[in-house]
Amino acid sequence: MQTATAEALSNIAFIKYWGNRDQALRLPQNPSLSMNLAGLKTVTTVAFDAALPHDLISINGSVATGAAAARVVRHLDLVRSMARLTVRARVDSRNTFPSGAGIASSASGFAALTVAATSAAGLELSPEALSALARRGSGSASRSVPGGFTEWQMGGSPTGDDSFAVSIAPPEYWDLVDVIAVLSAAHKATGSTEGHGLADTSPFQAARVAGAPARLTACRAALLSRDFSAFATVVEDDAVAMHAVMMTSRPPLLYWQPLTVAIIHAVPAWRADGLPVCFTIDAGPNVHCLTLSTHVAEVERRLRALGVADILIAPPGGPASIIRDF
Ligand code: PMV
Repeated sequence: MQTATAEALSNIAFIKYWGNRDQALRLPQNPSLSMNLAGLKTVTTVAFDAALPHDLISINGSVATGAAAARVVRHLDLVRSMARLTVRARVDSRNTFPSGAGIASSASGFAALTVAATSAAGLELSPEALSALARRGSGSASRSVPGGFTEWQMGGSPTGDDSFAVSIAPPEYWDLVDVIAVLSAAHKATGSTEGHGLADTSPFQAARVAGAPARLTACRAALLSRDFSAFATVVEDDAVAMHAVMMTSRPPLLYWQPLTVAIIHAVPAWRADGLPVCFTIDAGPNVHCLTLSTHVAEVERRLRALGVADILIAPPGGPASIIRDF
């Protein structure tokens, strides 16, 4: 029996991935940029065992079935074909945060699964190849393989081998903190895999994609020069562009709740008052409020005053890794 355990962090995109040019290979229509979220972690153990008749998958302590299990089996099949293995696996995966809450559990989940499964299978892959493989499970998982602030390059090859994420700055580069207003821990109605498939039904997707490289260049420059004001503008622009596409897709995807809207009204006003904070939102109602470490308590206080009960706080985090002494 070959076993390995890996951990990987969730990430929050500053420049969003939404829509694929190849849905099966999860090749994106635009490059994206994100920060790994320390503490928001998936820990996954994979054990290949010749005695197993089929893959046995447990997620957060319950046996996975249906589409969730099938997606993991497909990913294990990719690893098995690379390693020329036929043996089945036992997978145990646990998150330290609620799944399906608009916090990318698929990102940390498929990054941890990729690192654990390839190691258990005896494959030695480069960090780029691990990221490209994680991408096949969930696009954003490619960005949870390297550490800190990461950029997922679109790549040009039809096989997707050059579509992977790399680190552009280590976690300690900038003391940004994600103060997450958790408005719903419930499973989202339309998952992102289905959502990517709807992106091209919006008349605004082409415009969003056309503008993404320039927004990414501006975001990278703001990040590398630690220019919060420039960063805030481009991050909010990019999030709203993605949600404009979502809301105008057929069928439309409206992830925002009343409190989401209250927060996105408040945050730019707080910034105009001198508090360094901006918002971004993924495929769910939660609002990620990005601020600097010295202002976390004030952002949290103001979110609570708006009626937010659940808040998660995540500074930048490191790469996916094997846990040796588990
Ligand atoms: O990796 P996926 O298929 O779960 O897509 C992630 C999509 C967003 O979270 C909405 C944006 C992003 O870039 O993370």
